[in-house]
Amino acid sequence: MIDTAVPQRLPVGRVVATELKPATPHQFHFWTANETSIGIGAIVRVEDDATATGAAGRVVYGVVTDGFAYSDLATPLQDVVGAEGDPVKAVASPTVRQEIRLWTAAVLRQSPEEPLQPVPLGRVHVASDTDVAQALRMDAYLGGPEPTAIPIGLYTSGGLEAPVYVDADFLLGPEAAHLNISGVSGLATKTSAVEFLLASVFQHFPPHKGRIAAVCFNVKGPDLCFLDRPGVLDDDDRRRYARLSVTARPFERVRYYAPFKADGVNLNTLRTHPELVGDVEPLVWGLREVLDYAEVLLNRDDVDAKADAFIDFLADRVVDKEFEDGFGGVHRVVSFADLERLFRSIFDGLELAGRGDSWRTHHIATMRKVRNRLSNISTRCKGLVTDDGPSNDLPWGRFEDRAVYVIDVANVDPLGQDLVFARAVSQLREHLERRDLGVEAVVVFVDELNKYAPADGPETYVRKMLLDISERGRYLGLVLFGAEQFRSQMHRRVVGNAGTVVFGRMDADELATPGYHVLSPATKIKLATLPIGELMVRHPHFTQPIFVRFPRPAVLRGRDGVERYPPAADLPFEDAVARQLVRLDRRVRPNQVKDLIADRREEDVRRALAHTRQARPHDALAHFQKQLGGRVSLRPRSSRSPAVAALGARRSRCATTRRRARRITTRSTSRTRCASRADRSGECRMSRSWCCVCTTPNWCTDRCRAASP
Ligand SMILES: Nc1ncnc2c1ncn2[C@@H]1O[C@H](COP(=O)(O)OP(=O)(O)OP(=O)(O)O)[C@@H](O)[C@H]1O
Ligand SMILES: [Mg+2]
Repeated sequence: MIDTAVPQRLPVGRVVATELKPATPHQFHFWTANETSIGIGAIVRVEDDATATGAAGRVVYGVVTDGFAYSDLATPLQDVVGAEGDPVKAVASPTVRQEIRLWTAAVLRQSPEEPLQPVPLGRVHVASDTDVAQALRMDAYLGGPEPTAIPIGLYTSGGLEAPVYVDADFLLGPEAAHLNISGVSGLATKTSAVEFLLASVFQHFPPHKGRIAAVCFNVKGPDLCFLDRPGVLDDDDRRRYARLSVTARPFERVRYYAPFKADGVNLNTLRTHPELVGDVEPLVWGLREVLDYAEVLLNRDDVDAKADAFIDFLADRVVDKEFEDGFGGVHRVVSFADLERLFRSIFDGLELAGRGDSWRTHHIATMRKVRNRLSNISTRCKGLVTDDGPSNDLPWGRFEDRAVYVIDVANVDPLGQDLVFARAVSQLREHLERRDLGVEAVVVFVDELNKYAPADGPETYVRKMLLDISERGRYLGLVLFGAEQFRSQMHRRVVGNAGTVVFGRMDADELATPGYHVLSPATKIKLATLPIGELMVRHPHFTQPIFVRFPRPAVLRGRDGVERYPPAADLPFEDAVARQLVRLDRRVRPNQVKDLIADRREEDVRRALAHTRQARPHDALAHFQKQLGGRVSLRPRSSRSPAVAALGARRSRCATTRRRARRITTRSTSRTRCASRADRSGECRMSRSWCCVCTTPNWCTDRCRAASP
C-alpha cells in the first residue's frame, strides 16, 4: 500500500547547472552534504523555488545514475606538495579541505509534462511513497475504478521503502506483455523472483481481467517441485510482504506433471517422496500427440518435402481411421505399435508383390526413413511417448483459475523436452485462440530460456514458437516469463519483446556487451555488485530502470525440498504398478495387483494401467483386470513356489520369443540369438517388444550383434 502520510522532509540537496554541466529536460546534477542518504538508484523530487513557496511551479522526479566527489584542488600535485609527500602529515593537516558530493540524475517525470523544459535550479528532496508512485507514473494504474497494479518489490533508499507496482496491462497484456529476467547463477535470484512475482500476480490480478493460470517448465533439478509447500522466511521478508500487500503463502493449487522413466511406471521427477508423489500426474503421449509435432522431433535434414508429405499423409489419412493398406489388410492405427504393424504389413506386401520401390506415390526409402525416425522417438523418449495405450495429458479446456501447472522435464532427454515444450505451448495457443482453455490468461514460465531461444544455432521449431509467443502472444493472453543467465546470448526478438525486463546481479563481462551501453557506468557497477534479493526493473511506465528488493518466495526451495522430502528410490515394476492403482482407488491392495500381473508381459500391464488411469473407473482393480485381458493368473502368488513361478514365466515368455523368432526365419541370426538368449538367461528378456524391434533390420542386426556372446 502507498503510504500517503509521510511528512514533508527538508531538502537534501540543490540542483546546479554550469556551462560544462547544464541541466537538460532529461538529466540534471545536484549537490548534497557529504553525509547523505542519497546513492545510486535513489529517487529524488526537485521543486523549483515557486513550488517551494506554495505557488504552482515545476516539479521534477529523477533517479540518481552517477555520483562524484570534488575538493578545491586543481591537481593531485597540490595535495602531495601540501603534505610534503607524507600521507601521515596529510591526515594531521590543520586545514580541512572543502569537499562536495555531486550527483547526476536522469529525469523520470516532470510536472507539468508540457512544455518539456530543462530541470529548474530547485531544491532536491528524498522521494516519499507518493513521490515514487508519481515518479514511476504508477498513479495511472494504482487508482481508478479498475486498478491494474501488481506489486513487484520495494524501492529502498536511505531508510525509506516504497512499494513499486507494475501495470498488469503491460505485464500480462494486452498493451504489452512478457517478462525477462537475467543474471548470474544463484546471486541473481531469477527463479525466486519469478516465484514471488507469480504469487503477487495471482493475488493482485485485476478481477475485470478474468482468470489466470501459470504453466511452469521445471528444467533444472527440483527447482519448482515444491511450490505447494511453505518455505522459510525471516522477519525482513514478512515485513516486505506486508508492505507489498502480498500474503506470504505457498501456491494453493499446484498440479504436477512428469513423464515416466524408461520402465514406464516410475515417475521421472524428484517429487517422488511417498507423501508427495500422489499428486504427480504422469505425462504420457501417444502417436497422435507426437505426429502433430513430428517437425520438432526430426532433424531439419530429415524432414525433406517427401518425408513431410508422408508424415502429413499418416496424420490425415491413417491415424485414428479405418485404413486399407492395399494388400487386403485393414488397420486402425492409434498407437506406435499399430503403426509398426501397418508398416510391416506394407513392406511384406510390397515384397510379396515384387514391387519394391513405391507405395501410394511414397517412395519406400522415404517411408523407411520416417518409420525409423518415429520408432527412434519412442525409444529416445521412452516414458514420455508410449508405444501403445492411451495418453495422459494436461487438462486442456479445464484449466483452473490461479492454478500452477508444473511440467517437470528436468530429467527428460533434450528431444523429449523440445516435444513437451512445443506441444504444451501449441495447445495453450490453440485453446486461448478458441477461448476455451478455462482461463483468459496464462503465464508460461521457462527457466533457462537460453537453451530454447539462443541467439545463434539452428532455427528450431521451439525457437520459432518462442518468437511467435513473444511477438503475438499478448493478443491471446499467452505471456512468457523467461529467465536466463546471459541476456546477450538470447535471441534478440525474444528478449526485445519483453515489456518488463528484470536484471539480477550481472557478470561484468556480460555488462561490457553492447546491450548494456545505455546504462551509466555507475549503474553497471551497481548491477555487477547487486546484493542477493535486489533487482533492477525496466517497465514501460518507468522511463528509467529502478532498483527494487523483493522478499524470498514463500515456497519451499527446491534444494530444501529434496532434503525434507527425499525422493524415493525407484520401485520394482510390480510395486510401482500397485502404487499407481492404489492411488486411483484406495481400496486396491498391492498384493492383489501383484498376483494379477505375475507372468504378464510388462507392456500389457503398462497398457492396462494406462487405460485404467484414463478411465478413472469406480472399481480400478476390476477395470485393470479387464484391460489385462484373458490370461490372468488366478492362483494367488503366495501359494506358488518361487521356482514354479519362475519356470512358468520363462516358459510363457520363451514361447512367445520362439514363435516370433520362427516368423523371421530369413534372419537366421536373429532367431538363433533370440532363442539362445532366452535359454541362457533363464529370465527371458526377448519379450514381444524385442522381437518387434527385431523386425527393423538395421537395428535388429546391431542389437543382436551387440548382445552376441
Ligand atoms: N529475496 C531474497 N532475499 C535473499 N535471498 C534470496 C532471495 N531470493 C532468493 N534468495 C536466495 O538466493 C538463492 C538463489 O536463488 P535462485 O535459485 O532463485 O537463483 P537463480 O538465479 O535462479 O540461480 P540459477 O541461475 O542457478 O538457477 C536461493 O538459495 C535463495 O534462498
Ligand atoms: Mg534458477
